[in-house]
Amino acid sequence: MAMILVTGGCGFIGRHVVEELLDNGYEVRVLDALIDQVHGDAETAMPEAAEIMRGDVRDKTAVKRALLGADGVIHLAAEVGVGQSMYEIARYVGGNDLGTAVLLEAMIGRLPKRVVVASSMSVYGEGRYENADGAQLDLVRRRGDQIKAGQWNLRGADGKVLRPVATDEEKPVDLASIYALTKYAQEKQVLIFGEAYGVEAVALRLFNVFGAGQALSNPYTGVLANFASRLANSQPPMIFEDGEQRRDFVHVRDVARAFRLALEKPNAPGHVINIGSGQAYTIAEVATLLADAMGVPEIRPEIMNKARSGDIRNCFADIAKARELLGFEPRFKLENALGPFVDWVRHSAAIDRGAEMKRQLEERGLVS
Ligand SMILES: NC(=O)c1ccc[n+]([C@@H]2O[C@H](COP(=O)([O-])OP(=O)(O)OC[C@H]3O[C@@H](n4cnc5c(N)ncnc54)[C@H](O)[C@@H]3O)[C@@H](O)[C@H]2O)c1
Repeated sequence: MAMILVTGGCGFIGRHVVEELLDNGYEVRVLDALIDQVHGDAETAMPEAAEIMRGDVRDKTAVKRALLGADGVIHLAAEVGVGQSMYEIARYVGGNDLGTAVLLEAMIGRLPKRVVVASSMSVYGEGRYENADGAQLDLVRRRGDQIKAGQWNLRGADGKVLRPVATDEEKPVDLASIYALTKYAQEKQVLIFGEAYGVEAVALRLFNVFGAGQALSNPYTGVLANFASRLANSQPPMIFEDGEQRRDFVHVRDVARAFRLALEKPNAPGHVINIGSGQAYTIAEVATLLADAMGVPEIRPEIMNKARSGDIRNCFADIAKARELLGFEPRFKLENALGPFVDWVRHSAAIDRGAEMKRQLEERGLVS
């Protein structure tokens, strides 16, 4: 039986990855610092069969101990939040980049066979676009003055609005936030290390992950958890811009399966692979679907008509490569999977910190 070390295994995605691995006959060890912003004072319930070590990935001694006997590593430990990364810069660069560096250095001399790292769709910046002639554009950005004037959509050189299309892994990265920069550095570090040391390395670029277990009181994480904690407190979800921006929501159990497949499949090493649902939803649509599922259809979202620094307009996944290399097929769709998510929200203490998050960003001039 293979033994897998999961860093950040007590987090939202980690807990599902641990379950997926245990269900498929792996031995699992977790290294997690149980950071306050994610875990608070609450006890994090973990399966008994997993060995849990509390420790920081920046602590080489702890990491070396955690790596003993590991055949594979799934590296999930990270500070997660685009907005917060724009002012807690040292924290994000330290936890994510230095953390990955220490983890890799600790592997020298006790190399695992394979390492799979969680990267993020945020590395793309804007997704791919198409102009009226059908030409694809893969490095477009909104200018600050356009955003200030409330022109949310991307425009071509002729001033016409561009059409967003699915983003594949060939699209050049365009790092628009400190978080994205750290995720790209994590992914590159792992791939470069793998190449140099003969360790099989895979990076999964996750799109918006949703499902039971996301930290509801952490306003910096997923938009769905964020909206749910607002609705659970009878507050309208706060939507930046006009709500028509599009994202791809992939279920956490699909993501957990993708991590297992990335550990197992022979053609995955050396690749970065998108993990999404392949479907695009507008954020306003998501807020409405969720309010309906939570039985509060009368709570309409608050459209802020303001942009958050570092946010992009549209990005949704082309998952052809995941299908080909991993045999990955999403099993859950947002509109059908909200029931269990809502049940879980009802049984959780969702402290709404959305207004606080907005104030933190505004104080630093990161909302315009
Ligand atoms: N949730 C998403 O939508 C999403 C999307 C793209 C990528 N990702 C990536 O997936 C991974 C997991 O995300 P998540 O949503 O489960 O986040 P999470 O915050 O729920 O979990 C992260 C876990 O890592 C731990 N951790 C943080 N810093 C650590 C450190 N220095 N040492 C040890 N442990 C540490 C935390 O205590 C937490 O348990 C992250 O790498 C994240 O960047 C998540």
